[in-house]
Amino acid sequence: MSEPLAGRHVLVTAGPTREPIDPVRFISNHSSGKQGYAIAAACAALGARVTLVAGPTALTDPDGVVTVHVETARDMLDAVETALPADVFIAVAAVADWRPAQPSDRKLKLDKASFSSLPLVENPDILKTISRRDTDRPGLVIGFAAETHDVEALARAKRERKGCDWIVANDVSGDVMGGAENAVLLVTAETSEAWERAPKGVVAEKLANRIASALA
Ligand code: CTP
Ligand code: CA
Repeated sequence: MSEPLAGRHVLVTAGPTREPIDPVRFISNHSSGKQGYAIAAACAALGARVTLVAGPTALTDPDGVVTVHVETARDMLDAVETALPADVFIAVAAVADWRPAQPSDRKLKLDKASFSSLPLVENPDILKTISRRDTDRPGLVIGFAAETHDVEALARAKRERKGCDWIVANDVSGDVMGGAENAVLLVTAETSEAWERAPKGVVAEKLANRIASALA
């Protein structure tokens, strides 16, 4: 079997993050982690050393991959920075954009007025932080974008805003989030390429092969 990613370190984020409100409640989202886990496994299958930084999912750690489990966006950023340097960074995680400003140590009582509003603060943008690093910036930084409309224009704008090299845009107008299949538009500086709707494992293999050609 050919291993075009042998000697390369690929760093992947996957799954949702969980932002505590109190000891029993949190803010999160419906990300299953399936696409990120499949990408980590596909890169390992091509010979890469892979670090997967994963938020809470129901999935089994992929074989041949170092999986670091985290909960919050801030923990995810720490784990990613700790895992550098890497040749490739792929931000697949659905990071919660906001977190409660002051998580309570004690369980909040819902009958209290204190729970009628929940002050939030912005989480760090992991993709943007890694894309814009002065030192140890991975040579290829790939972000994901979930969009329901104007997919290409929004993906291009997101690529510029985040400072990453590629955006893998998902059309989430169907059942993609948590579903088994993905319809993808790959947006690079020069091109954009529509990939047929396919199982997430197939999308992952295609992306891993595309990465291998870009690094070759
Ligand atoms: N991302 C990240 N850290 C964040 C938010 C997003 O690393 N705090 C990454 C995701 O992993 C993904 C990309 O940024 O690779 C795009 O995330 P998305 O939520 O679609 O973009 P946003 O910039 O948050 O814009 P919006 O939610 O408004 O579409
Ligand atoms: Ca977001």
